[in-house]
Amino acid sequence: MSSSISGIGLAGFGTVGSGLWQILQEHGGMISDRSQGSAALEIRRIAVRDLAKKREIEAPAELFTSDLMELVNDPAVDIVVELIGGTEAAFDLVAAALRAGKPVVTGNKALLAERGAELFALSKQEQTAIHFEAAVAGGIPIIKAVQESLIANRIETIAGIINGTSNYILQRMTEAGLAYSEALKEAKDLGYAEADETLDVNGWDAAHKTILLASLAHGFLVNYKEVYVRGIEKVTPLDIKFASDLGYVVKLLSLVIERDDGKIEIRTQPSFLSKTHILASVHGVFNAVALKGDHLGDSLFYGRGAGQGPTASSVVSDLVEAARSDRSDRGFLPYRESGSLVEINDTVTSYYVRFSVTDQPGVIANIATILAEHQIGISGTHSPVDANNPDADFLEMVFLLHKCSFGRLKIALTEVEKLDCLTARPVVFRIETL
Ligand code: NAP
Ligand code: HSE
Repeated sequence: MSSSISGIGLAGFGTVGSGLWQILQEHGGMISDRSQGSAALEIRRIAVRDLAKKREIEAPAELFTSDLMELVNDPAVDIVVELIGGTEAAFDLVAAALRAGKPVVTGNKALLAERGAELFALSKQEQTAIHFEAAVAGGIPIIKAVQESLIANRIETIAGIINGTSNYILQRMTEAGLAYSEALKEAKDLGYAEADETLDVNGWDAAHKTILLASLAHGFLVNYKEVYVRGIEKVTPLDIKFASDLGYVVKLLSLVIERDDGKIEIRTQPSFLSKTHILASVHGVFNAVALKGDHLGDSLFYGRGAGQGPTASSVVSDLVEAARSDRSDRGFLPYRESGSLVEINDTVTSYYVRFSVTDQPGVIANIATILAEHQIGISGTHSPVDANNPDADFLEMVFLLHKCSFGRLKIALTEVEKLDCLTARPVVFRIETL
């Protein structure tokens, strides 16, 4: 370090970056005191894309630059904080900082999940740490929990609600009856969504976080191309209502399950969860990670998963650690060469399947026959009739199905889709019992 004060080069002054500035203005003294003076933090350079942009939170103009590499080259900068997002410019910045021997703090889960193999290898080679508490579950200290506090445990299960935007949207659709687009706009206005919200709603933001958690828990870098991901874009108010009728809520759930054969099941998708399950009460921008360790048993980590204050709070905790510690092994050092993931067709759950059909004699029997031919049992049905139009020509017919492999279900549904009575493709949700 260049002095007893740690100089910070901050890349990004958006939601999180400006939140970091604000916290250090407000609590810099307290943070230094609480760290016994070992973490006196001072932002000495700020890189943004647009120098002319009007900003709600202000910092001295002379700190700003539009050249990211100034953070790396400035000798007054000891630690580089990457809060610009994306996987291109952010990669170049993080790699350059590591090569310059400057520890990096980042909240960029996409970068680490997709390009972590290169960056963590570089971190090891350069003996320079990458800290990423803010990359998963916003303000919840889940990275340090998995890496440190739970090091005594084999992590058997992780079940998370780890995208605040999706969780917020689903709740607003469920409780306020908002249309998907209205709920998304609210989440963007509140600073929860990514600059490009595609990753929030297509499931990939949660999947990136899941990949990081799975990698930490199981010791090998999970290849993002091998994980199964579905988002919430196609969740309809009708399925949310039917879920509620049947005693469930719809949640974007991320799962990491170690099976008895040692294979790891990793998937992110909107799923049905009993209203009585503890994760069903995680609302709005809140995230939760339910984790089962072989010695610890069940535990639950809960808090705000997105937004300015919570995320910047995690960034500060990493900064303090970076400032205090000469340890270079922060980040992720794989301790297993590789591991096997469960193929999605081999994963087994119960299901909700909604068939849109023309209401003609034999419809239910025809569908049930095909399911039976594939050894798929029906545990219940749901088909509310519109009291104002009991003789409607069309019907929404829900089947709740007993556990079977996803592959078998897909084959059966391919046959069902050939029936004349179907007016749309079947809608499938997994029912998670966890
Ligand atoms: P944001 O509000 O969109 O801010 C991005 C900032 O980066 C802006 O200041 C932008 O400059 C700057 N920037 C973008 N590209 C740049 C480039 N090539 N060169 C220089 N500056 C550049 O994003 P955010 O919500 O703060 O998120 C930042 C990171 O934190 C992302 O990786 C995100 O995934 C992660 N994260 C966010 C949250 C959250 O709740 N928002 C939570 C956890 C993690 P201008 O201001 O000039 O446009
Ligand atoms: N867009 C992310 C979310 C931010 O909504 O959860 C936190 O990583």
